[in-house]
Amino acid sequence: MASKENKNIILLGFMGSGKSCTSQKLGDLLKREVVSTDKLIEQKEGKTIADIFKEKGEAYFRQLEREIVSTISSQRNRIVDCGGGVVADPVNIEALRKNGTLIYLSASPEFLYKNIQRTKKRPLLNVENPLAKIRELLAQREKFYQKADIILDTNNKTIDEIAGDVLRALKL
Ligand code: S3P
Repeated sequence: MASKENKNIILLGFMGSGKSCTSQKLGDLLKREVVSTDKLIEQKEGKTIADIFKEKGEAYFRQLEREIVSTISSQRNRIVDCGGGVVADPVNIEALRKNGTLIYLSASPEFLYKNIQRTKKRPLLNVENPLAKIRELLAQREKFYQKADIILDTNNKTIDEIAGDVLRALKL
């Protein structure tokens, strides 16, 4: 079992909840390596997430995601920025929990919608009504996110505030 000092810090949450920026901030503050499941998938495939979805489909992406999560779960001392859909597979949750503390960055559909508009392309939200899609997916996933060890409300918070909340919650 990993001790509190070298347990991974696992950031979970819907697209647009601030996982990527918060993980970078935490990496700087704690001087720990940051890994992103999406970035590792993109490196492995040599393609963007959008292209993987387009060319190979979601099921293929989820398989890669499961493999990456399994690798990360055997590591220590990382800050882990997880793709928003990681939680839908219970195998992922249990693997990440082995060496890590799961932190859910919770936010309202409206706040998430505002955030995704100025960030990277999300194939699942490339639809006519992204806000309705966020509501639908979030409603499906909420029960999985709730399995986290720590749940933080990130509505209207800055990245610095969220990172501070994570450190306080972990007593680091
Ligand atoms: C997804 C979230 C994305 C990425 C992919 C699918 C999801 O990651 O993994 O587009 O199912 O919620 P972010 O949460 O980092 O945007």
